[in-house]
Amino acid sequence: MANRLLINTDVTNGIIDKNIYGHFAEHLGRCIYEGLWVGEESPIPNVNGIRSDVLEALKKLQIPVLRWPGGCFADEYHWKDGVGPRESRKRMVNTHWGGVVENNHFGTHEFLMLCELLGCEPYISGNVGSGTVQEMSEWVEYMTFDGVSPMAEWRRQNGREESWPLKYFGVGNENWGCGGNMRPEYYADLYRQYQTYVRNYGENRIYKIACGPNTDDYRWMEVLMREAGRFMDAISLHYYAVPGTWTNKGAATGFTEEEWFDTFVKATYMEELITKHSAIMDRYDPEKRVALIVDEWGTWYTVEPGTNPGFLYQQNTIRDALVAGVTLHIFHNHCDRVKMANIAQLVNVLQSVILTEGEKMLLTPTYHVFEMFKVHHDAELLCSHVSSDSYEMNGRSLPKTSMSASKDAQGRIHVSLCNLDHRDGAEVLVDLRGTEGGSYQVHGRELTADALDARNTFEQPEAVKPSEFQSFAWENGRLRVTLSPRSVTVLELVCE
Ligand code: AHR
Repeated sequence: MANRLLINTDVTNGIIDKNIYGHFAEHLGRCIYEGLWVGEESPIPNVNGIRSDVLEALKKLQIPVLRWPGGCFADEYHWKDGVGPRESRKRMVNTHWGGVVENNHFGTHEFLMLCELLGCEPYISGNVGSGTVQEMSEWVEYMTFDGVSPMAEWRRQNGREESWPLKYFGVGNENWGCGGNMRPEYYADLYRQYQTYVRNYGENRIYKIACGPNTDDYRWMEVLMREAGRFMDAISLHYYAVPGTWTNKGAATGFTEEEWFDTFVKATYMEELITKHSAIMDRYDPEKRVALIVDEWGTWYTVEPGTNPGFLYQQNTIRDALVAGVTLHIFHNHCDRVKMANIAQLVNVLQSVILTEGEKMLLTPTYHVFEMFKVHHDAELLCSHVSSDSYEMNGRSLPKTSMSASKDAQGRIHVSLCNLDHRDGAEVLVDLRGTEGGSYQVHGRELTADALDARNTFEQPEAVKPSEFQSFAWENGRLRVTLSPRSVTVLELVCE
């Protein structure tokens, strides 16, 4: 048998930072407005304007960190337009995303309230592309300063006495593209300048995140690490799995077997990207002080027919669930350098965990993977050896399975397993070393579906959801697991 997972239960390869299970919400399409914010007067039940159904579903994911307000929107966003009485906030055009009117009703106070309700860390992206140093500096002062100052006073007038604790702050977004079309040398200098005025007030300590490369722009990484590495805590990476090409991305549903396969070729390219970017970082930062943060990732398809192309609304299928599973495993394996990741985006945009339609809401297959994988949050990554059959199509080959094992604070072992094969199941032999003689109670859950594009719809919101998994048996001290085709499985092993 070629699919084998050998787990050294007493050897750890580091901690899986729970922040790799982070999310991203941009002022784009129906992510913020309708997806999260409906306003206090809405007939849709809400908590201070945040819709209650979405809030409750998100709480169950135990989201560790949420990035906002963009994305490309961040480098056009002027935060002062989004504070104070809502009825008098400025209206602006969202030029990047559909040219719609942005009424600024969801601003700094609303975002930080959402994070408080979710119990997650806020991660704010500041504006370098069209904003000033003063504007960025004053935003941090507004949010985090407790003393006497114009910004702290203004915050109090706007109803918030105490400052907010804020850790994660991004100095620009995609400044190589929508954030100003800069060269890395120019952005490196701007980064050094802007970050100087991102101050630590009182006890608050800001973790500064520089705009990193697009995909395989290794020169950007090289220049940023060389010129500005010592001024940052982390650098970002953006990469989207786009089957086909950017001009012909393919549909989220109704796709072919070849498109299925191509999606995983694209998704697993993340491994090469992280390896190569990390190698550059290692040269400038061998102690690994600077983290790599993949603060935008996920699938990107052609928008749903009849929807605004600028809203990036796409359905989500069992294919997306598997993309989430294999990508999260890649992040696990690089937990020495990758300390945060933010799937794009939270609701109604790209690879969302939730879709809404008016007052209706559904959980996508990707949601279920994030819920099933919660067990890995801040757990010890166990030193494992994976061998996999290959999965082949039209002369191309991928590993058929992707697997990862961790141990939580209570000593429970969790093994997550993905079978990418669109047609066939997979037999896996799991060998546990380090606790010989002990026996385990095993409990499993599986997410699978009959069709390649199986999905949840507003008519059938529970077509794809996890179920109990019992296709395993002990054989000579090893666990034989039979994975379904197109499946994500999580096993919990408790030593008796
Ligand atoms: O997530 C959608 C967009 O993709 C973001 O706004 C931008 O940063 C990236 O290009």
